Amino acid sequence: MNKPIGIFDSGIGGLTVVKQLKKILPDEQLIYFGDTARIPYGTKSKKLIEQFAMEDARFLLRYDIKMLVVACNTASSLAMDVLLKNLDIPVVGVVIPGARAAVNISKNKRIGVIGTSATINSQAYNNSILQRDPEVRIYAKPCPLLVPLVEEGWLNDPVTDLTLQKYLADLIKEEIDTLILGCTHYPLLEESIRKATKNQVELIDSGKETAKVVKQALEDKNLLASPGNKKEHLFFVSDIPVKFSEIGSAFLGEPLHKIERIDYETFIGIKH
Ligand code: DGL
Repeated sequence: MNKPIGIFDSGIGGLTVVKQLKKILPDEQLIYFGDTARIPYGTKSKKLIEQFAMEDARFLLRYDIKMLVVACNTASSLAMDVLLKNLDIPVVGVVIPGARAAVNISKNKRIGVIGTSATINSQAYNNSILQRDPEVRIYAKPCPLLVPLVEEGWLNDPVTDLTLQKYLADLIKEEIDTLILGCTHYPLLEESIRKATKNQVELIDSGKETAKVVKQALEDKNLLASPGNKKEHLFFVSDIPVKFSEIGSAFLGEPLHKIERIDYETFIGIKH
């Protein structure tokens, strides 16, 4: 079925998920929406995150998408119930795939989770891990400074290294053998995180795991695009922030061309 897949995130961090989807599903047309006008979601309340997630989804539904990928850990942690209840297409978030991969990989059953404050406070990863294996010990840590560091482009920087050392110290002390990167931005910090954990910990990139789940779901539901379906990917944002294309290209792993800024007032329903 050659309808597009819709993907949204609070900003452009979700392009790390797009990168993985492009890799393993080259025939699928992807339509991305980044809510750059309202990022961060990670410091907001559940009610607001649910509202934003529904608005993001409704925008993508205009493109007749066959599946929705919630490429934002915060929205996946706090708004999946609302999305599943209100949408009649398959919805895939990043939390369950990440949690499942961590449970499968961890040998000592001591798993660390890092993410935004909203993601960690929601306990979504904890619940998802414990549903799979109640014996796992989970050490979760909100890391609110990491998103701004990535947005600033400080990927390999002593300030980022120090910040990570401080955030991860307790988790390392607890002898975790697996760490879930529970935020769209963190895969870009992989190198610094490896340094901080002295290469002793398995890192779980929720985006990578999600792409595998999306592929499986499309196969199971007979929704895969036909081979050679070469429709252009579309990228939309609600604002064009400073350093946008530089950072966006780092997330996507290739130059980011042709991004369309949507009319924000129409999007949030002030103007019809
Ligand atoms: N996309 C968010 C996430 O994955 C990070 C940025 C934000 O706080 O909105 O949790």
